[in-house]
Amino acid sequence: MLLDNHGRRINYLRLAVTDRCNLRCFYCMPEEGLDWLSRKELMTYEEMLKCCSLLVNMGIEKIRITGGEPFVRKDIMQLLTALSKLDGLKELSLTTNGVLTAPHVAELKRIGVRSVNLSLDTLDANRFFAITRRDEFANVMDTLNELLQHDIEVKINTVVMAGKNIQDILPLVHLTQELPVSVRFIEEMPFNGDGHSHSGILWDHVRILDEISSAYPTLQKLVDPQYSTSYNYHIPGHKGSVGIIAAYSRTFCGTCNRIRITPQGTLKNCLYDDGVLNIKDLMRLGMKDDELVQTLRAAFNTREIDGWQAEKKRTENTNVHESMATIGG
Ligand code: 5AD
Ligand code: SF4
Repeated sequence: MLLDNHGRRINYLRLAVTDRCNLRCFYCMPEEGLDWLSRKELMTYEEMLKCCSLLVNMGIEKIRITGGEPFVRKDIMQLLTALSKLDGLKELSLTTNGVLTAPHVAELKRIGVRSVNLSLDTLDANRFFAITRRDEFANVMDTLNELLQHDIEVKINTVVMAGKNIQDILPLVHLTQELPVSVRFIEEMPFNGDGHSHSGILWDHVRILDEISSAYPTLQKLVDPQYSTSYNYHIPGHKGSVGIIAAYSRTFCGTCNRIRITPQGTLKNCLYDDGVLNIKDLMRLGMKDDELVQTLRAAFNTREIDGWQAEKKRTENTNVHESMATIGG
């Protein structure tokens, strides 16, 4: 069992495979995109596999592939297939925007992916375009249908943004009536890739809950799974459920079980820290496996207690403004 310096279990890795994306969600990156990493700066699939294998041996049980958008990286199914065969890995999942995903769903099912997080901020094609700056709504809905048809658990991630998609909150909740999906509303975080600092948010988890429970007075609190980052609810008679993720308020840090690896191989102990070491560089320097394991263990012994502390300790960008696409959600 892998424990951090606060006695918390670490069993979940989020691995970002690319910083590139085929959408331009305004809360994530500017219109012109980011200063993309070169191929040389990216971890190769071989390096990712090696590093995941070490981490699984150390106690990681669940890996989530994120980006950027995983499906814009060439041959991503090859990596997923190889990861699905790792001995000791109990769960492999991914987060996708759904633009290119539909044709791969059957294969995802075949390799044992049981759950997919789909980013979708609106059910309206025009607002989808306004938010993502791309006309891809129909493809995302195709992905949603494919996932449901293949009996893959779907969690819809919706970032709640004042002035952009507040009118979508209730229609998205309504979706859970007929569809067995979990719709999770996420507080907007300051990771928009453009350096604009954020001072608080208008729609925090309390206000989101208020909006939903006013329209659905029968809303029931569910018991949240261990390590859950969302507060979960159910409306009697609905097939799906609703979650609220206090990503900005950071109310869930106390039970944090996750680590992150960015596309360039930086290990992050927290979404809000600026990286503790670069695994890719160590591997390329020829560090042996047992030494890598020791180095990783030492890094897990320096975890901050919560996202507020991690943010305070940042040395490079004291004002958090990375893009989510370079962090891995
Ligand atoms: N605030 C909140 N969530 C964000 N995501 C990306 N950028 C932000 C942000 N600034 C979400 C995406 C995706 C997940 C990986 O992170 O919508 O669902
Ligand atoms: Fe792409 Fe996701 Fe960022 Fe949107 S939030 S631009 S889909 S990486």
